Amino acid sequence: MAKVLVVYGSTTGNTETLAQAVESGLNSGGAETTVKNVTDTKVEELADYDVLVFGCSTWGEGELQEDFIDFHDEMSNIPLKGKKAAVFGPGDSDGYPDSFCVAIDMIEETAKKCGAEIIVEGLKVDGDVEPAMGDAEAWGAKIAKSL
Ligand SMILES: Cc1cc2nc3c(=O)[nH]c(=O)nc-3n(C[C@H](O)[C@H](O)[C@H](O)COP(=O)(O)O)c2cc1C
Repeated sequence: MAKVLVVYGSTTGNTETLAQAVESGLNSGGAETTVKNVTDTKVEELADYDVLVFGCSTWGEGELQEDFIDFHDEMSNIPLKGKKAAVFGPGDSDGYPDSFCVAIDMIEETAKKCGAEIIVEGLKVDGDVEPAMGDAEAWGAKIAKSL
């Protein structure tokens, strides 16, 4: 069975909430899933998983969530060839129309440069995350089914 890591960075808890829904979708689709805060995760651990699901909110008008910045920098130096990857996160298109959820695009770009394959389109959640829990769960289930 494919081993899936969900690693997230979250300042006010929204990405963390989404990560729980993504996990439940992955599990319902039969994936073996580990969920970790990026603050407790070393980039070397990525080697232990087949599928990498990154969750990251966008802050500072187009920047990664602060806990994710160093991890992302370090990640850009490690090979991810053969890994499958997907990225999700919340943002706010009303407040930040020019940088809505760009963290997702940045992480996808880096994962691809490192050799990973992006297996589903990134999940960009606009505004409140509670109404999007079903979408996040369905997104996780879609990943599991594609493995
Ligand atoms: C100061 C500030 C800057 C933000 N910048 C962006 C941004 O550039 N793009 C975006 O889509 N959302 C932006 N947001 C919205 C956050 O991404 C959103 O509140 C998200 O749900 C936070 O998730 P977290 O609690 O998991 O960190 C910003 C919010 C704040 C308060």
